[in-house]
Amino acid sequence: MHQGHHPPALPDTHYLDNRIFTDETIFQEEQERIFSKVWQFVCHESEVAQPGDFRRTSLAGKPVLVVRGTDGKIRGFYNVCRHRAAEVVRTESGNARSFTCFYHHWTYSLEGRLRAVAKAEGYERAGLDKSELGLVPVRTESVAGLVFMCLDPECEPLEAFLGESIRPILEPLGSAPMEVFHFHKAVIHTNWKLWQDNNSERYHSMLHAINRATQPWVLGKTSPMKLRLFPNAHSGYWSDGEATVAYERGGYQDVTRDGTLPGLRDQEMRVLNLFPDLMINIRSNVVRLDRMIPLDAGRTLVEWRGLGVKGDSDEMRSLRLKHHNMFWGPAGRNLPEDLLAVESQYRTMRTDSVRYSILAREEDLNPTDDANLRAYYVEWGRRMGRRAAAPFEQLQGAA
Ligand SMILES: [Fe+2]
Repeated sequence: MHQGHHPPALPDTHYLDNRIFTDETIFQEEQERIFSKVWQFVCHESEVAQPGDFRRTSLAGKPVLVVRGTDGKIRGFYNVCRHRAAEVVRTESGNARSFTCFYHHWTYSLEGRLRAVAKAEGYERAGLDKSELGLVPVRTESVAGLVFMCLDPECEPLEAFLGESIRPILEPLGSAPMEVFHFHKAVIHTNWKLWQDNNSERYHSMLHAINRATQPWVLGKTSPMKLRLFPNAHSGYWSDGEATVAYERGGYQDVTRDGTLPGLRDQEMRVLNLFPDLMINIRSNVVRLDRMIPLDAGRTLVEWRGLGVKGDSDEMRSLRLKHHNMFWGPAGRNLPEDLLAVESQYRTMRTDSVRYSILAREEDLNPTDDANLRAYYVEWGRRMGRRAAAPFEQLQGAA
């Protein structure tokens, strides 16, 4: 055994076996044991603002549909025709009065009822009961304008899953009507957990010149920002007092303090990382939401959304866009650097040259403490029935 395959001499909560990122069997199990079981963010309410607005996406690899009914309620369904399983909706998003499957023209209402079948007389002898054959519902609930879905009909309500973790974002996201003003997506060549990991850990903030400049604590010993840990491995990071982002140090001459979102101090930053895959990053006057659609162990579709306030003046909207994109646009000074890092990790992990990653920082919940990552991988292990440090070892007491 060469040195790169020796586990580090640390408690086994403090390191990971990198094969949890590269193994396809583990990836398939994650689809069943995590993505088929927990609440996941799918879109913002503004993306289905009007009755009949719909959006197609997937959860755990399964095709789903989010639609606002004529009653104004947002519902979710499997995007699969009950007749012969073709996809009922084939465009990404749009507005419809009903959904007609292209294959045999079965038609569903916005509330999912099977309204009509073509050449209905052919079913008379067999006795087809249309009331039994609506689109299959998927649990769909919202908080602060964020729409979540869960494939497991038995899972706890969204509010119970999120618990107290969601409180710091309720006011900024939930008091003024918000809308998506930026959307981009890309398939990145890495495991989905490495992206959540990057979005959750602060030790790498030194990677970003713009973060070093605008967040002085990045290189300092302590910070007014603190990690916050919540049940179900949700975590966050904010300050109870001081302002935390010094935009003016970022080299931008026209940075203003305008447009601070409700409930935030000027120049305040709050980040929430929800298990398993959502980041909500609020920086003063803009919001970034990262959602993932894992494709296989080594490829992840990431959707990036930027939120602003509905009804902003043109001037305010362009200020928000500028502040959003200077960090988080596809050519911003933060996001592309993170992508380089997580794709680099994945390239080497596939080769199994160095088998373990270290999560051993303990700093009383200073931002560069790894406590939130450790909690995340404990929860991952609990759901997977595997230890993240030794995923191929039989668990004590397991069958
Ligand atoms: Fe980063």
